[in-house]
Formats: sequence, structure tokens, C-alpha cells
Amino acid sequence: MMNDQGVVLMTPRTDAYLDSLIETQLSAQTIYKVDPRETNGERVTYGTISNQCVTNMIKILNIGDKDIVYDLGSGVGNLIFKMLFSAGIRKGIGFEVIKDRYNVSNNIKKQIIMNYPEFHGKIEFYNANFKTILDSNRFADATIIYTSSLMFTDETMNLIVEIAKRCRNLRYLISLKANIHPNLEFHSRQSCACSWGRCCYYIYTLKHRVEGPACPRSLLLLLLLLLLACLLLVPLSLTVP
Ligand SMILES: C[S@@+](CC[C@H](N)C(=O)[O-])C[C@H]1O[C@@H](n2cnc3c(N)ncnc32)[C@H](O)[C@@H]1O
Repeated sequence: MMNDQGVVLMTPRTDAYLDSLIETQLSAQTIYKVDPRETNGERVTYGTISNQCVTNMIKILNIGDKDIVYDLGSGVGNLIFKMLFSAGIRKGIGFEVIKDRYNVSNNIKKQIIMNYPEFHGKIEFYNANFKTILDSNRFADATIIYTSSLMFTDETMNLIVEIAKRCRNLRYLISLKANIHPNLEFHSRQSCACSWGRCCYYIYTLKHRVEGPACPRSLLLLLLLLLLACLLLVPLSLTVP
């Protein structure tokens, strides 16, 4: 939005507001818009998809306040912030292996929560390699998994499908790299702008999921039935001589 003098107004929750927060942090930490690096022999190049890409995603997949979004390789958190501002997601969780990129996401998170206390508890970032998270339930509440996977090996891509299979309520898996896997159903390929040029993202749904333990509601029902049976049987046994 601009005023009559052509000056961009930083209205809250707009892309311009978000971009300005990210720009300030990036220059403070000397992170470039395209930032190739290596860690433990793996390429961990940083770049971002544009806000426009995320807007399209939100529209196409009808992402909203019931969604819990995971970004595996969250960089400075741009996708999670944009989803929060534009889709009002229930929760956004990012995993980033490089410390200074994670620091940026966490600093921006603090500023956003200061300005919008209603977002408290809705954003989490972890400075972690998502491949080393062994707790198989860690991602279980995801409804959307996004991954900027251009540099990922086939092995990592397969691991992401394994993670997705454990999410009972997963609606979509979104990946920048096409993922040919027997458990994935192709939904569509979308093209948009990224910090390194034009890119596209691929949307998948899952064919099969790993069935977890019985859901707590049916367990509760079973316990109630047992209790009821006990209540009926105890007085009966007392009356029998
Ligand atoms: C291209 S950036 C994407 C940033 C943002 N998610 C986006 O799409 O706009 C990819 C990020 O994934 C991180 N990354 C790569 N492998 C990772 C892993 N195994 N665990 C956590 N982060 C990883 C890189 O350090 C990099 O910052």
C-alpha cells in the first residue's frame, strides 16, 4: 500500500512488513538472499520462495485456521510467518539446521509476538536436522508438510515420505523437488518466483498411512464400558449367597 507521495506504508501483517523484518535481520547476520553452504558433507543452500508462491499455495490448498504446517528446512521462517499472517494457520513449526538462519527466524518470531501477542504459542522454530529426529511421533500432528527440497538426496526424500506416512491428518506434502514414490499421489505442479529465479513446487497427497495405536476416544469408551460392567457386577455378586 502507498500514500499520495508514493511512500510504501508498513501496514501490519502485509508482505512489506514481513519483508522488512526479514531484510533487517538478514543484513544484521550477513546472510545473502542466495546463500550456498555445506554442513556434514551436505549442501544446505539457503534461498526463499516468494510470498506470492505462498499466497498461491494457501489459495489452491485452502490452507486455514485448522492447519498445522511443518517446514522441513525453514531457513529464516518466511513460509511459516506468511502462512500465519495470510492463512491464520493454527500452528507453524520450522526445523533449520544452520544456526544463524534459525537465529533470524527466532528473532523475527519474538518481534512478531511482541507486536501481535495473539500469535503467542502459534510459531515454533528448532535449530535441528529434521533427519536426526528419532521420535516417530514428532511430526504426527501435521496437516501440511512443506519442504524446500531442491538439494535433498533420494534418501532424504524417502525419509520425508516416511515422516508424512505417520501423520494421520496430513492433507498435503509440498516439495520443491518432484518426488516419485509409490506412496505419493501427484496433485499438481505450480510455478512461481523464488529468490534464485523461477521455481516450481509439487503437491502430493498420501496413498497409505501408518496406523498408530487406537485413538484415545475409543480407549475412553472401552474404559467406560468396563467401569459400567464392574458397577453392574459388584452389586450382583454381593446379593448372591
Ligand atoms: C532453500 S532454504 C528454504 C527456506 C524456506 N523454507 C523457503 O522455502 O522459502 C532450505 C533450508 O533448508 C535447510 N536444511 C537443509 N537440510 C536440512 C535438514 N536436514 N534439517 C534442517 N534444515 C535443513 C538449509 O539450511 C536451508 O536453510
